[in-house]
Amino acid sequence: MNNTACRKTLSFIRALHGAPATERVPLHAPVFIGNEKKYLEECIDTTFVSSVGAFVDRFERDIAAYTGAYRAVVCVNGTSALHMALMLAGVERGDLVITQALTFIATCNALSYIGAEPVFVDVDLDTMGLSPDALEDWLESNAEVDSDGVCRHRKDGRPIKACVPMHTFGHPVRIEEIADVCRKWHIELVEDAAESIGSLRYGKHTGTFGKIGAMSFNGNKTITTGGGGIILFNDNETADLAKHLTTQAKVPHRWEFVHDHIGYNYRMPNINAALGCAQLENIDTFVENKRETAKAYRDFFADEPGGMRFMAEPEGTRSNYWLCVLLMPDRKSRDEFLEYSNDNGVMTRPVWELMNRLPMFSHCMTDSLANTIYLADRIVNIPSSVRIKKS
Ligand SMILES: Cc1ncc(COP(=O)(O)O)c(C=O)c1O
Repeated sequence: MNNTACRKTLSFIRALHGAPATERVPLHAPVFIGNEKKYLEECIDTTFVSSVGAFVDRFERDIAAYTGAYRAVVCVNGTSALHMALMLAGVERGDLVITQALTFIATCNALSYIGAEPVFVDVDLDTMGLSPDALEDWLESNAEVDSDGVCRHRKDGRPIKACVPMHTFGHPVRIEEIADVCRKWHIELVEDAAESIGSLRYGKHTGTFGKIGAMSFNGNKTITTGGGGIILFNDNETADLAKHLTTQAKVPHRWEFVHDHIGYNYRMPNINAALGCAQLENIDTFVENKRETAKAYRDFFADEPGGMRFMAEPEGTRSNYWLCVLLMPDRKSRDEFLEYSNDNGVMTRPVWELMNRLPMFSHCMTDSLANTIYLADRIVNIPSSVRIKKS
């Protein structure tokens, strides 16, 4: 890797994030510039810090309004939101679920909790997310829809119940095309929109294209509730069921404790929702700021110093640029840059180890994963925090 290019890149990142040489530049730090303290104090003053409270209902309403989802139901984190989303999509033990190998472990953990098994198909080079063409090809070669309308693996008959594309680092996938393939093959679409609040595809918010979508508000996301997640729905009935199941399936009553289903203690506490309400009030500022950062990176890397290329948002999309991405010329230069930047106080990281290379999923079916492997060898995330300090 070209040393001058590395040095100049780090100087640029430091200057952009206003970090002197003595300061470490984080990958993504939360920013609290609004009503966070006020709303948290309100929770403490009213004693509503736990699983009941006005902020929970408000956060659900506000997120639904912001994303255009019909309903939203909060969860303790994005992983539980995905788990619940997959259950509500009808995924059961022994089913196959198609997803991408280039994703965070939570996508595969959530479906594994149910006893389903992932199938990994390739991603597109420009979106870094599930490719509708690869999806269609895999289904053509391996699946059939039976006389009951169930999509099954042709060889072993296992139902292929759902498809979970992920909007990688905030860049929307070709989700409307994936939705078409899913409809054709009778497969439920569950969007992993954990990283993509504020990201649109042809003006429509990610997470709202399928029956169900899930988001994360972990501390490293564009907005945070400390820990938290949400499920997005396009109908009332499934949302009501989600609310019931995430609150221990308790039958509403003033004093009786009766539960009519195996439930989950997945409800987000009011104190976390309060943080979320305050953060959401500033989301337009945050996304705009992150997009300005992306523009600055794009300009800096326009002539590809040291062969480094900046991953701009795919055509037809507005990305929240959750984590900005550089593509290195090869794996060797990726590793050299990772070492150099982390040694010098600028936090960078490679993409997650591919899911099909992890021991729990190494037996799972895949296609060639050619683009996935190409990207995994080259992706580096660079500092992408909102660059606004509290005045
Ligand atoms: C792609 C993806 N899916 C799911 C999750 C799970 O979210 P959480 O960490 O809130 O459980 C995350 C976030 O961390 C993620 O990046």
